[in-house]
Order: sequence, then C-alpha cells, then structure tokens
Amino acid sequence: MSGEWRTDPEDWEAQDDHPVLRSSEGHWLSLTRRGVLKGGLGLAAVFVGGCAVTGGARPRIGFTPLPAQTDPGFDAVRVPAGYRAVPFYSWGDPIDAEAPRWRADAGNDWRDQLRQAGDNHDGMHYFPFADNPNGHGLLVINHEKVATDFLHPRGATVLHDEQGRPRRPGEEVNKELAAHGVSVIEIAKDRDGQWRRIMTSSYNRRISGLTPMILSGPAAGSEAMRTASDPTGRRVIGTFANCALGYTPWGTYLACEENWPNYFVNRDAEDYQRRPQQARYRLSQGERSNYYLWETAQSRFDATPDRSLPHQGEVNEPNRFGWVVEIDPFDPDSTPVKRTAMGRLVRECATPSLADDGRMAFYFGDDTRGEYIYKFVPRDRYRADDPGANRELLDHGTLYVAVFHDDGRGEWRPLRHGQGPLNAANGFPDQAAVLINARGAADLLGATRMDRPEWVAVRPGSREVYVTLTNNDERGVDDGQPVNAANPRPRNLHGQILRWRERDNDPAATVFDWALFLLAGYPAGGEAPAHQWGTIQGDVFSSPDGLWFDPAGRLWIETDYDDESPDHRAMGTNQLLCADPDNGEVRRFLVGPRGCEITGITGTPDGRTLWVNVQHPGISYPASDGRTRPRSTTVLITRDDGGEIGT
Ligand code: FEO
Ligand code: CA
Ligand code: CA
Repeated sequence: MSGEWRTDPEDWEAQDDHPVLRSSEGHWLSLTRRGVLKGGLGLAAVFVGGCAVTGGARPRIGFTPLPAQTDPGFDAVRVPAGYRAVPFYSWGDPIDAEAPRWRADAGNDWRDQLRQAGDNHDGMHYFPFADNPNGHGLLVINHEKVATDFLHPRGATVLHDEQGRPRRPGEEVNKELAAHGVSVIEIAKDRDGQWRRIMTSSYNRRISGLTPMILSGPAAGSEAMRTASDPTGRRVIGTFANCALGYTPWGTYLACEENWPNYFVNRDAEDYQRRPQQARYRLSQGERSNYYLWETAQSRFDATPDRSLPHQGEVNEPNRFGWVVEIDPFDPDSTPVKRTAMGRLVRECATPSLADDGRMAFYFGDDTRGEYIYKFVPRDRYRADDPGANRELLDHGTLYVAVFHDDGRGEWRPLRHGQGPLNAANGFPDQAAVLINARGAADLLGATRMDRPEWVAVRPGSREVYVTLTNNDERGVDDGQPVNAANPRPRNLHGQILRWRERDNDPAATVFDWALFLLAGYPAGGEAPAHQWGTIQGDVFSSPDGLWFDPAGRLWIETDYDDESPDHRAMGTNQLLCADPDNGEVRRFLVGPRGCEITGITGTPDGRTLWVNVQHPGISYPASDGRTRPRSTTVLITRDDGGEIGT
C-alpha cells in the first residue's frame, strides 16, 4: 500500500529546532507556554488546554482489555478491572439548583427543557481553572440531536391537517429545539476527592436551538444570509446538530454544526436545483424535512422560496447553519458567534493545532460519503500576551481543502475568491459565495473525496494529525468515488484512521505527508468477506468516530456502528479503545450499553479523570432497570487507586 509512514528519527530531531511552548503567566486560558521539554526522541512539548505534555515519551498502555460485549440485553457501561465508570450528567438533569427536576414520564415541557441537560450528548471539552486545574473546571458538552421516542411522553406527535399534510405540535418542536445545543456546567472535586457539579454556579448555562447568536466574518450580512426574519443577515436563532467540537487557546469552545441539511426543506424542486448551497449540501427536498418536521411548526425551517416576501422569505435560513459557533464558557452573558470565515460544511469538528510561534490551524471533517477534509489557518498569530487580540482571530484567514495523492504526499489548496477557478464565471462572485458553498469550491479545486471524515486529533508534542474516516458503503461502487490509497477498500463498512504530518510540523503548511494508521474491521483471513478485513493490531472494532489524544499521547478511539447489524454483531456494542500511536497496538477500554454510540471524550490535565459520552442508549441506561426510559449521559471514569487512566 502506498502512503507509507515516514518515521525518520532525524526528522523528529529536526522538530526540536522549534522553540517550544511554555506557560504565560497567570490565567490557564493561555494555552501556549514557552520552554523546552525533551523526551526520549527529542520531541518538542506542547501544552494544550492546560495539559502538560511530555512529548516523545512513548505512552504507556497497561490495562487488561475487555472482551467485545455481544449480549443483546447488555445495558451498562463496563471498564477494565481497577476502574470505575459512573453516570455524571444525563439528559434532563437540572442545569442549576433552581431548574426543574427531570420527570421520568418525560412530562417536562419545553421551558423546563431549556433549563435541563439537552439530549444526545456528543463532543465535549474540559476547561480547567488555573488555581486547581485537576480538581475544578467547566465541562462543555454538545447535544447533537433528540431521541423523540423518549423526549416526549409518548414519542413524537404527528397530526394531519384537512389536506392530510403532517403537522407537529409547536410545544413538542420547541422542546426538541431546547434539547439541542450545548451545556456548560461547573464541576469540582469535593473534600473526599469526588467530582461534583456546582449547582449554584453562575457559569451553568444552556445554549440551544432557541438562543440568539451573531454571524461574523466575510459571509455575514451578505445577500445570501438575509431572510425575511433577519434582513441584516447578521442575527440568527440557535445552533443544532452540534456533533464534535473544537476549542481555542484563548479559552473558548467551538460547537460545530453537522447534520443541519436534514432540518430544513425546500419543496420547490426546480428552485432547489438552481441553488448549489442547497443541492450540493443535500438539503431535504420534497414534501418534508428529513428529520423532525420542524417546518410544519416554525416557518423558518421551510426554505421554500416565497417571492412575496423580502429576501424570498426563509429560503436563505439554511445558509446560516453549518458553521463553527464560538462560545465563551467563562462569560455566561456572552452571545455565541458563528464564524463564517471557517466555511460552511456538514461539519464534524474544529480541532486546533498550535505552533510555538502562535501560528494555528483548525481541522474539519465534512461528514458525508465522499466529502472532504479542510483546515482553516487564521491570518494572525495567537498572542498569549494579548487576550483582546485573539477575539476576532477566527474572522480572518484562509480555508483550505486537502488533496491526498496516492504516493503519500498531500496538498492543501486554498478556497480563496479570485484565485484559480473560484470566480464569478464559475458561480463564486465573492468570498461569501465561496464560504457558503465551500463544497462546490472544493470540487473545482480537485479535492480528494474521502470515506466520511469524522473527528480529527492532533498529537501532543509532534502535532501529527489523525482523522477518522468512519465508513463509506459507496466507495468503489459510486462512479465518482473510486478506490484510492487513502480510501483503499470498496464498500467500506468499517472505516479507517489516517494520519499526516505537515511540512516542518507547521500548522500553516500547504503540503504534508500522509499514511494510513489502521483499517478497522475483522482480522484478515478470517470468516468475514475480504472487503471487511482490517489491519488492527489488537481488539476488533468498526466505524471509528470520536478521536482524542490524552495529555500523555495515548490515542483514544470511539465507535459508532449499528450493533444489531449482521456485519457488526461479532464486535459487540459500541466501544472506546486505546491505541499506541507508535506501535499501533489497540486495546478495548470500555463497552457501552446496547444501542448507544460512544462519543465525546475529554479529561483533566493530569490524566486521572476522563469523561466519555454515551449517546442514545437503547434500553434503560443509566437507570439500567429495564423500565426507565434511556438517557444520553456523560460518564465519569476514574481509577480506584487514583492513578493515570490507561497506564
Ligand atoms: Fe454526528 Fe458525523 O457524527
Ligand atoms: Ca460523530
Ligand atoms: Ca458517526
């Protein structure tokens, strides 16, 4: 297979020429720190999110792996001997001491839901406080979507009008909007060393599909962002489909908007085909939206043009989703900002990489079959010594899309109006058009179609970049998606993890070297069909999705596959695995309850606390009594002896 990984010790040594990052004084928000830490391979060290990283030291993995959990009635979270996993924050938990309690009959109304944990927990990040980083922080959690069967007492209600058209009750739609978005919760260890929520905290906050937000950057205010409800094109209500995440050195959280095309509909087929920002993104077309029929209760979700209204009604409303939403968790009164310079995608994540001189990149997956991998490089450098200067950093910069050549070289091509084919003749009259239809722009640049890019993780110290390509059953089947070196399996049911190294480890580089890290799937030569064979050295899994490096450099892999399907049954329920990025060894660390996806992962800088999300469990977790409705839940994981997790 081409794309061989070049692990040349000389190359590693060369990285040490860079000055390395060390703490600026004072506030933990200063994520970069200046100084030199040398590990066995002479690697640089980087501090990310307050996490001290001893770069180069080979991460130790010492736990006894779990077997795959194939019991059809399994309704718990299991971790290796010597570890504890307890439910910490579940759908419906009150956001603060004043908020209503969760009702087991789902009888809370939408106003209650606005003050309770949202549903379908996903990406998450722990922001430590400087005075006690391993015992006090803010946990920020995405709520990607809703499980309508459980959110409402008797599932989703669909009424029909006299013409037989479906209608959703406004109260239910509001509850669904309220259960999307983000939670911010303050947490601390008590005197006994147990993690608790601080229910009286003024940081505790829910952001939802009903929260007012601002649009900023090159596309804000453009005609394509204006609607009858918002003629300014600069104000938008809410965020939803918040899947994975990012964060910044200046202490903000980046909620990413993923499956928004399913929340809107344009019923006018001809009009739809004329709008690449709808057709190219596969916005729902037909009589209804793909997901929850919100358009039947709130007109802004009906993107069918109404030419009797200014800006044709709400036809541009979908253009106001698909962005990175920057949230300041330390300012509960702040208004979230959608940063349009970073492009509009079906965006999975916004993973930061920070060089010693303040240059940055944010990496994005666009999670649809055959879509692309992108990065955004801010024009200006991050300045630890001048917090005010960083506030608008995400409004100026260059969006790039990745090309993966079969020989292991890679290129970043800029999505810049006026350069190459990105001009008015090709449908891109300005940079706003490029950003709103980033997919169409990337098409013209010859980007490589990938197997559903999900999370990106940047290795501490070396800044190698890893991405999960979760699966793609159209690979090698669809004419436009031939098998290639980066996406090497036809009918790819199990996915792969790919990694690259930017030239000189510079986040702003425009060329890189890439290689496959592993192909997920069954052992080669076994009973499974050959296109399901993988290269895992260790425990079997499919469909890698969540991906995260802990501070010591262990790579954690979370899975999202249908645990009932015949192709996955032998792998058991969804899981969390721990991998050694140097030798490729993979061990199964956690198995989840039947029906769930394991997603979202973060921890303390000392590596002794880990949080993981159990999304949409299928039976009755976390009550696990076989009766109570299941609830998406953030799980707290610690070691019985208080030690570092994974060692
Ligand atoms: Fe929400 Fe691509 O996962
Ligand atoms: Ca995902
Ligand atoms: Ca997924």
